[in-house]
Amino acid sequence: MQNLQKEKYKDYFEGKKYNITTFGCQMNEHDSERISYILEDLGYTYTSNREDADFILFNTCLVRENAELKLYGQVSSLKKLKKENPEKIIAVSGCMMQTTTARGVIIDKHPEVDIIFGTKNINSLADLIFRYLETNERVIDISTDDVKDDFEKYNATNDFQAYVNIMRGCDNYCTYCIVPESRGREESRRPYTIIEEVEYLVDQGFKEITLLGQNVNSYGNKANYDFTFPELLARVAKIPGVERIRFTSSHPKDLSDELIDVIRDNDNVCNYFHLPMQSGSNSVLKKMNRHYTIEKYLERANKLKEEIPGIALSTDIIVGFPTETEEDFQKTLQACRKVGFDSAFTFKYSPRPKTVAATYPIIDDKIVQDRFQRLLDELYPTFNEKNKEYIGRIVDVLLESESKNDSSVLTGRTDTFKLVHVKAPKELIGEIVKVKITDNTSFTISGDLVNQ
Ligand code: 5AD
Ligand code: SF4
Repeated sequence: MQNLQKEKYKDYFEGKKYNITTFGCQMNEHDSERISYILEDLGYTYTSNREDADFILFNTCLVRENAELKLYGQVSSLKKLKKENPEKIIAVSGCMMQTTTARGVIIDKHPEVDIIFGTKNINSLADLIFRYLETNERVIDISTDDVKDDFEKYNATNDFQAYVNIMRGCDNYCTYCIVPESRGREESRRPYTIIEEVEYLVDQGFKEITLLGQNVNSYGNKANYDFTFPELLARVAKIPGVERIRFTSSHPKDLSDELIDVIRDNDNVCNYFHLPMQSGSNSVLKKMNRHYTIEKYLERANKLKEEIPGIALSTDIIVGFPTETEEDFQKTLQACRKVGFDSAFTFKYSPRPKTVAATYPIIDDKIVQDRFQRLLDELYPTFNEKNKEYIGRIVDVLLESESKNDSSVLTGRTDTFKLVHVKAPKELIGEIVKVKITDNTSFTISGDLVNQ
C-alpha cells in the first residue's frame, strides 16, 4: 500500500527538501533520526536552512516550560512563510503533542501547522504525509501504531555513533515530571531485537553505541524477558567490534551491584555514569517521589567510585522545588561536595501541567535564582579540579567534529565523556586517537595528538 503511494508521489518528492528542529533529550534526537530516515526514504533531502525546506518539522519537548515557549515562538515565526508558500508542509511532533493542552494550543492558535503526530506513531509518518497530500487538509494523528519489536530504522547523525532505544516511557511518576504523561507507560523492547540492531550497526562500522531509555535500570522489569539491564549490557558488550557502549538514563533507586560489576568487567562499557540526584535533602526527595534517601544515593555513588577507579559521575539537579528551604538547599550543596561530580545538568524547577508538584506552592523566583547561582559556584570549581587531574595523561579520544571556532581543531570525547579539543586533520573524525592532555577549563580538556 505504502509503496503504491510512494510510486504515485515519486515526482512530487523529486528535489524536495526537509528540515528538522529537535528540542529536548537524546530520546527526541533519536526520534528525529527515525523521522529523517522516513523522509529520505520518500525522496526528501536534508537542508539546514529551515526557510528553504519544503517539509519543516519541529520535534518538541515539554519537560520544562522554556522549551514549550520557544516552540510556540518558532512556529509563529513561520506564519508569513506558509502564507506566501502554502505548498510548504509544516509539521509538529514529539512530547508536546502527546498532551491535550499543548496540542490544543497548536491546533487552535497555529493554523499554519499541517501535520501533527506523537511519539508513538513515528512509523506512520509516510502515511500521514500521503493523507495530507491527498486531502490538503490538516492531519492530526496521535495513535499508538509503533510496534515495539520493530527493527528501527534511522539516519544516525554520523557514521560512527548511534543511539539504540531499549525501552520507552516511564512508570516512576516523579512529582515534577511530565514524561510519564508524554511518553506513556514503560515498555521494554525485546532483548534480541536490540542485540540484532547493535550487531547490524557494528556491521555498518559504528564504533559507539548509546542505549537509551528513561530509566534503563528497570529494563525488562515488566516483561518476562530473561534479561535484566546488566545482563543486556553485558551481552551487548560481547558483540565483536563494539568499541564503546554508553547508556542513559539511570534511576538511583534501581542501580544494582550487578550493573556496577558489568561496567567494571567490560573495557568497552564506558567509565562514565549519569546518576540524577535531583536534591540532597531527604524531605525534598520524598516530595519528589524519588524512592531513595540521600544516604542511599551517596552509598551508590561511592560504590561506583570504589569499584571503578577513575569513573566520571554526572547528575541532574533541580533547584527551587516547592517547599525547598535554605536548609534543604544547603544539603544539596553538601551532597555535591561529597560526591565531587565531573559535570551536571542544573535546572530551575518549572511547574508542569497535571503533575502532582504543580499543585504545590512555588518559591519566589529571586530566591531560586540566587540558589541556582550558588549551586553553580559550588559545582564549577569541582569540574575544574576533576578536569585538571587529566593534565599529563594520555587518553583515548573518539573524534566527533570540527570545533565551532577553529576548523583546525577537532572535538571529541574520552570514554569518561570529557569534551576534548585537539589540533588534528578532519580525516581523523570518527577515529579513536591518543591525546596527551596539556590544559583544561571547567568544561573541556585539551592537548596534543600522540603519534602512534
Ligand atoms: N522542572 C525542572 N527540571 C525538571 N526536570 C524534569 N522535570 C522538570 C521540571 N518540571 C529535569 C530533571 C530530570 C531532567 C531530565 O530534567 O532533573 O532528570
Ligand atoms: Fe521523569 Fe522521574 Fe521518569 Fe525520569 S524517572 S522520566 S524524572 S518520572
